[in-house]
Amino acid sequence: MKATYRVLTPQDLDNGEITSQTFALEVLTGLSENPKRLQSKYFYDDEGSRLFQQIMALPEYYLTRCERDILTQRRQDIAGHIAAQPFLLVELGAGDGQKTRILIDHFLHRRLSFTYVPVDISEGAMQTLTTTLSREFPQLDADGVVAEYFDGLKWLSAQTDHRKLVLFLGSNIGNFNRPQAKHFLRSLWNSLNDGDIVLIGFDLKKDIDLMLKAYNDSRGITAAFNFNLLKRINRELGGDFDIGKFRFYASYDVFSGAIESYLVSLEAQTVPIKSIGQSFRFKPWEPIHMEYSYKFLPSDIEELAQETGYTILQHLTDPQGYFSDSIWRVNKT
Ligand SMILES: C[S@@+](CC[C@H](N)C(=O)[O-])C[C@H]1O[C@@H](n2cnc3c(N)ncnc32)[C@H](O)[C@@H]1O
Repeated sequence: MKATYRVLTPQDLDNGEITSQTFALEVLTGLSENPKRLQSKYFYDDEGSRLFQQIMALPEYYLTRCERDILTQRRQDIAGHIAAQPFLLVELGAGDGQKTRILIDHFLHRRLSFTYVPVDISEGAMQTLTTTLSREFPQLDADGVVAEYFDGLKWLSAQTDHRKLVLFLGSNIGNFNRPQAKHFLRSLWNSLNDGDIVLIGFDLKKDIDLMLKAYNDSRGITAAFNFNLLKRINRELGGDFDIGKFRFYASYDVFSGAIESYLVSLEAQTVPIKSIGQSFRFKPWEPIHMEYSYKFLPSDIEELAQETGYTILQHLTDPQGYFSDSIWRVNKT
């Protein structure tokens, strides 16, 4: 068996392919808004995916460490929810699949019958993932899909004959605000069958300084990760951002419960973007909103599950109570 992947094409989808026109359109919309914003899903070109791997290895980035511990300690519980029949192990926003390997290894040892279906917007990340999986687990059946989450969900709805365990790790859910998270979870519910299982990683609310440090690392990797999106606009859309004229800033909003990341213009400047055919004016100290990373209380997780059609089976938490992998069952009866 072999780990492979494919890029969803316009023939696979009604309208959703990831094109540079879509990227240009969303940059145009975001930089025309007040306050200006860019969408964090565009962080992950090849360089962005590499930088994110470095972020996950930072001592301050407790999220990866906590989730790795949970998956290692509780892999038997997780397998127990799905082991009885053959299934698809679907992972939305799989990245380098580092933590998922813990489950894959365990499932293979238990001789469970499954196919791994990683879904990610980044073709670079998918290429690396499928290559390393083929090497590490030659017996694994893996069939990746390069697609945006919602296009991935459309694809998923067509796989009606299989039971599914869907992973959404790394607190990717935290990039959505509450209405968007509900929209996403209900769309996921629509694409699944009664009894399917989802496992979602939530970063829990905790000491504010600890959370802030994870997004303000001393080596400046998170800053480089944010700047890379401006570089990507320069590379792919003919932009003329001068990185030296911006600074990275992250803060915690105690009302919304989100770490928010910004690039702040250090002076008045005008930035042309060729393929958009427009220039964007910045005032001194004007921010571009780059990313939300919402944090959760256990009660928030329970509300989200109830409001979108799932029954909670288990909350798996690390000993410090920093992170929760919550296992839900799709409820359609
Ligand atoms: C924060 S990383 C987490 C990776 C992995 N889940 C983990 O926990 O280590 C987010 C991953 O999701 C992918 N991603 C982000 N937004 C996406 C979107 N809208 N659709 C599909 N993939 C997306 C990125 O390419 C990246 O690999």
